[in-house]
Amino acid sequence: MSNSVMPILPANRIPKHVAVVMDGNGRWAKSRGLPRTAGHEAGEHALFDVVEGAIQIGVKELSAFAFSTENWKRSPEEVKFLMGFNRDVIRRRLDQMHDMGVRVKWAGRPGKLWGSVISELERAEEKTAKNKVLTLNMCVNYGGRSEIIDAAVELASDIKKKRVNPEKISEKKFGEYLNIPSDIDLFLRSSGEERISNFLLWQVAYAELVFMDVLWPDVRRETLWKAIEIYSQRERRFGNA
Ligand code: IPE
Ligand code: IPE
Ligand code: MG
Repeated sequence: MSNSVMPILPANRIPKHVAVVMDGNGRWAKSRGLPRTAGHEAGEHALFDVVEGAIQIGVKELSAFAFSTENWKRSPEEVKFLMGFNRDVIRRRLDQMHDMGVRVKWAGRPGKLWGSVISELERAEEKTAKNKVLTLNMCVNYGGRSEIIDAAVELASDIKKKRVNPEKISEKKFGEYLNIPSDIDLFLRSSGEERISNFLLWQVAYAELVFMDVLWPDVRRETLWKAIEIYSQRERRFGNA
């Protein structure tokens, strides 16, 4: 990116919660004659540059889509690589994230996830639980629909136990049952694809959608800043006139 200067924007024009669909690793690798896995490897640097850039500009929460409930459809080799890779990245980057004041949270279903991935995520959650600079939701084996179903099942169980009055279920109350309770302000997807792909379906209700024509391994903090600049120029109306 040529423009590497952070835009100066009024605080109310900075999104509090940014969702990122880290897409385009396979195409990045293919264009270089490399295996798809090399694209995933190259994406690690992009994520942590974006985390730093998010902190610099004042974003408080970042939800990163690392592995979807649909990604199990990929070849067994790629799935295996992605499991080991996610585990290793979380392990390798834990101290760095902790030093930056990042609170790591995992969003997703255990399901077929490797036990070692879950234990690294839980270890990261524990270690960083008190950090306040930025919350990083690592979405691993995450799907928006499964998140909503799991929330509904848990809510139904609380109703059955008479812990919740069904007459009093509000959007806020339902939201508390989700892995990620807070609304998305800016939904950013790399790679030029313009779709949601089952990410944070409930939380994107009033998100501003920004699609960037850059493959994930080429994304840098400047890409985030550019998306935030675009976001800052949008008029958010939330149904108002
Ligand atoms: C995103 O890149 C990473 C994951 C889904 C794990 P892709 O692997 O989807 O890359 P493309 O879309 O095939 O280029
Ligand atoms: C979404 O990207 C999932 C992640 C980035 C982890 P995909 O590449 O899986 O989405 P589709 O298949 O293009 O919709
Ligand atoms: Mg993709």
